[in-house]
Parts: sequence; C-alpha cells; structure tokens
Amino acid sequence: MSEGPGSTKRAADRLRRAETTVAEVITDDRPARLLALEERHLDDVLAIEEASSPAGWTRKIFLTELARPESRCYLVLESQDPEDVIAFGGVQVELHEAHITTLAVHAAHRRRGPATPLLVEPLRGGRGRDARAATLEVRHHNLPAQRLYAGFGFRPVGIRPRYYEGKDDALIMWAHDIDEDAYERLLDARAAAVGRARRVGAMEAVEHPLQGLVGDARAAVDDVRRKLC
Ligand SMILES: CC(C)(COP(=O)(O)OP(=O)(O)OC[C@H]1O[C@@H](n2cnc3c(N)ncnc32)[C@H](O)[C@@H]1OP(=O)(O)O)[C@@H](O)C(=O)NCCC(=O)NCCS
Repeated sequence: MSEGPGSTKRAADRLRRAETTVAEVITDDRPARLLALEERHLDDVLAIEEASSPAGWTRKIFLTELARPESRCYLVLESQDPEDVIAFGGVQVELHEAHITTLAVHAAHRRRGPATPLLVEPLRGGRGRDARAATLEVRHHNLPAQRLYAGFGFRPVGIRPRYYEGKDDALIMWAHDIDEDAYERLLDARAAAVGRARRVGAMEAVEHPLQGLVGDARAAVDDVRRKLC
C-alpha cells in the first residue's frame, strides 16, 4: 500500500519526538515520555497553566524562557496512546543554583506521579550543570506542592510577602547539597517510587540542548549535562 502525505507527516512527527525525548517513564502505570518543551507544545501547556494558576505564565513568558536554552531546561510529559501533554516543568540554572521556575500537571492526571519526573530530570540537569542548591517559590497555601517539594529535600526558609498578584505570600524553599551523592540517591528513589523510569538510548543527532540529557551511559550523560542543560 502506498503511503500518502499524512503518513509522511506522522513519520516525521515520530522522528522529531524520538529526537527530543529526554526520558521514558511510567506514570499511572502507563508509558509516557519526557520531551524538550517546544513552541508547538504551548497551546497544551497554556491550557494546563491557565487551569492551574490564577495568574500563570503567558505565551510570551514561555517564549522568552525557551529562547534561553543555555541556562534553562523546560520539559513536557506526554502520555502515549493518546499522545497528550499532561504536565510540564522547568528549571533555570545559574551560579551553582537551580531555580525551579514552573511546574503543573493536568488536573485529570494528578496524584499519579506525573510531577515527579518533572522534578527529577530538571534537578538532574541542574546537578549536571554544577548546581549545588535548588530553590523555588510556592504559594503559602499550596500544600500539595509543598509536600511534593519536601519529598525532594526542599525546606521552607522564608516568605516573600504578597509575591503572587500582590496578594498571596510565597514560601521560599531551598534544597542544599544537591551536588552530593546522597541527593542523587534521593532522585533515584523518587523516580523509582512512581514507576520504572528508564533512560532511552543515546541519540545520534543533537539539535536541541536538552538532547544532551539523553543517553545510556551515566558518565556520558553527566558530561554532556555539564556542557549543556
Ligand atoms: C503540585 C502538583 C504539581 C503535584 O502534581 P502530581 O502529579 O499530583 O504529583 P505526584 O503524583 O507526582 O505526587 C508526588 C508527591 O507530591 C505530594 N502530593 C501531590 N499532590 C498532593 C496532594 N494533593 N496532597 C498531598 N500531597 C500531595 C505527595 O507527597 C506525592 O507523593 P505520594 O503520592 O507518594 O504521596 C499538582 O497538584 C499541580 O499541578 N498543581 C497545580 C499547579 C501547582 O501548584 N504547581 C506548583 C507551583 S509551585
């Protein structure tokens, strides 16, 4: 049977997904992929963001962040069958500090593990870029997120008054010594807790900096992470 333009596009889409896959994970007992966040994901990401955050990031903010791949890692979690963006998150790494800048899971998929790989991989990326500590802000009343972060060693250290919309206070949280082996073991344990997380095979072509996270050999991965994100 001859293949039409539709199948050519599907094949190209499959290839592109493979090229930008950072990790394959299991959440909610189903396979999912962590992919580099690209502009094509933004409609889905913005829908999750708008439903999750009263005054969340705009398209412009996401585009500005995506334009700085040298210090940012943004990922989406895409379910398979059907292929839907179910969560996203990211980190900014500067001056030995990893700043978790955003994280949200589609309401229909919460409490089944999706947020975990979206912290594990950016934090691994931060370690790979020599971050020694990680920080974030979270609404003071957002207990689910605070509990999630506590599981990654984040502890509250202060308050930014009226940080959100000039109204809600932000709790500032820090995780220290993320460059140590003990923290790597914590990340491995968190990843294992939500399912079998396995790294995908090494990629040939390198187009996007996040592809540097992909690989079987941990040493090679860490080396590339140091250079990229
Ligand atoms: C916070 C959020 C990202 C968590 O996503 P999630 O996919 O439900 O999280 P996971 O299933 O990976 O849960 C991991 C851990 O987080 C904690 N957690 C998550 N939701 C929780 C809840 N409703 N109550 C208590 N703990 C919760 C638990 O410790 C959980 O581990 P456990 O299930 O073994 O107890 C999600 O609720 C969300 O998108 N909220 C809206 C956006 C948001 O608040 N983002 C954070 C901004 S700082």
